[in-house]
Amino acid sequence: MIDPSKPDLEESVNVTEAHDRVVRGAAAAARENKIKENGAEPVSLTVMVLCAIPLLSAGWALGNAGTLFSYKDTVKDGYVRVIPADDEAGGPPPKDALAAYMAKGAKLYSKCSGCHGPDGKGDGNAYPSLAGSAWVTGETERLAMVILNGLSGPASTGKTYGVMPAQGAGMKGEDLGALMTYIRNSFGNKTGDVVTKQMGAAGLEISNARPKVGTAVTGEELAADHTKNLPGDALDPKTMLDPITLEPAEAK
Ligand code: HEC
Repeated sequence: MIDPSKPDLEESVNVTEAHDRVVRGAAAAARENKIKENGAEPVSLTVMVLCAIPLLSAGWALGNAGTLFSYKDTVKDGYVRVIPADDEAGGPPPKDALAAYMAKGAKLYSKCSGCHGPDGKGDGNAYPSLAGSAWVTGETERLAMVILNGLSGPASTGKTYGVMPAQGAGMKGEDLGALMTYIRNSFGNKTGDVVTKQMGAAGLEISNARPKVGTAVTGEELAADHTKNLPGDALDPKTMLDPITLEPAEAK
């Protein structure tokens, strides 16, 4: 006898098979109703066509008929874009030579500030000060040799702080000139002159021709061979230059 209050205990029902039947039935019903698995019914073609009619007619009204919106009111007859004359075609305004070289050199000084400090004062121990250094404000060829090749002492104070690694990798004449101009006129240094890109290029040549190319220079080598200024014509620090090319601004 089956207890009507506990129908689950009726053993003639195969529960697995009954469950399968229910799932198959539900899937078939869903197919007939065109209901997808996520429960959304596909949009009927009629609805899509009905929606397209206002969109298409709006497009026609805007584009063709010119009733809702017309370019006629916004573009005036004979209007042309003004093309600036050559000498005002944009680009940064010219700067005097000292300022132009300093601006470029200030960016390159980021190579040095890790050791010599943002204020150029070094740390008084492992890294010498560039502020007030006789080799920074003195002969430019000696300074160029230190920057390009590094220095294994002794430094200008007679003391050996350590070894400065070469900084010349990838430097062009204008980079070297700008960097030297910057440190010679920063941190309280004030030579007031410009180390031109031509002088910088000469420095690179002299450095590449060193007998001990690839090694740091020593105080002795500097004293023997490089206590002089780099060759090249001086440039009036007031000359107006294009700050990008560092060429005279009027030479366009
Ligand atoms: C990794 C650290 C380091 C970096 C980077 C570095 N230097 Fe030096 N620099 C030194 C050390 C150390 C000395 C001292 C070397 C010695 O005692 O022989 C020195 C010495 C100098 C000197 C000689 C100063 C004097 O009065 O004798 C100059 C000039 C100089 N550095 C300029 C530069 C410039 C410019 C840069 C960036 C392009 C630069 N250094 C990058 C560590 C560095």
